[in-house]
Amino acid sequence: MPTLEANPPSTTPSLGTIQETMLITLWARARESLRADAIIRDERSIDLCNAINYDFDRFRAGWKSQIGVAVRDRLFDRIVRDFLKRHPEATIINLGAGLDLRFFRVDNGTVRWFDLDLPDAIALRRIYIKETDRLTFLEGSALDAPWMEYVRNQGNRPTLLIAEGVLMFFEQDQVRDLFDRYSATFRGGEMLFDCIGPLMVRFPFLHDTLPRTKARFTWGVRKKSDILKWGKNWQVRDYRSLLDECPDRWRWMRWCRLVPALRRQFFALHLKCGD
Ligand SMILES: C[S@@+](CC[C@H](N)C(=O)[O-])C[C@H]1O[C@@H](n2cnc3c(N)ncnc32)[C@H](O)[C@@H]1O
Repeated sequence: MPTLEANPPSTTPSLGTIQETMLITLWARARESLRADAIIRDERSIDLCNAINYDFDRFRAGWKSQIGVAVRDRLFDRIVRDFLKRHPEATIINLGAGLDLRFFRVDNGTVRWFDLDLPDAIALRRIYIKETDRLTFLEGSALDAPWMEYVRNQGNRPTLLIAEGVLMFFEQDQVRDLFDRYSATFRGGEMLFDCIGPLMVRFPFLHDTLPRTKARFTWGVRKKSDILKWGKNWQVRDYRSLLDECPDRWRWMRWCRLVPALRRQFFALHLKCGD
């Protein structure tokens, strides 16, 4: 596939505060891919980590973040593959894409894919990953209006919006406005995203990699019903705590899933918006 540089050039990234967190998820995927018992394998993430001139070692102690990203990736890949089985000619919009390579992992040959991120994040992405006739990069904020109209004008197809490790950096009103506009623009569209609980926002030191950057979480959700009440006829297609995915890998944290309030601190939600 000629879309990913075979010999990725070395780059020193220049990223804004929240944008830098894309290097945490890249590192976590690379670490996972190096394991003999990896639950997701994405060797190209290793190449990118090697090529990007950044002190990834600062995340070394972050085993909770590392397994959290790996199980979330595995779950999201599974849901996206299932969506593409149901809708082979779909549109997928990946908000806050960072250096995520899901398109290459799940591509079915017919999906039309849009990776959106802020301009400096997309500039770094462009160094390593090339667009194709079915893979488009969009520069801008997920919170600004233009991208929705643009994507809709590319064709009326079943649509899935993905936001992986992104919404916790927004304010609640911004997320609500984004969901309102998406569900009005893409009627019957689906959304797949993860949320953290208020504990993680209030006590950032509980996180084992984010404090190694200057970024901080701003939005935490108590329960999924707090989101469901925003929409008319939104249906839950899937809801699960990330602690339920590969519990053995969570070490002592696997016991947290027995406590409902802790179980809800990391969850993924897959919704279908009403027609
Ligand atoms: C933790 S990273 C996750 C990256 C990617 N989804 C992954 O799983 O590897 C958060 C991403 O959200 C992006 N982001 C933050 N605010 C954004 C905004 N307003 N619009 C678009 N992307 C944004 C950042 O640039 C960063 O790439």
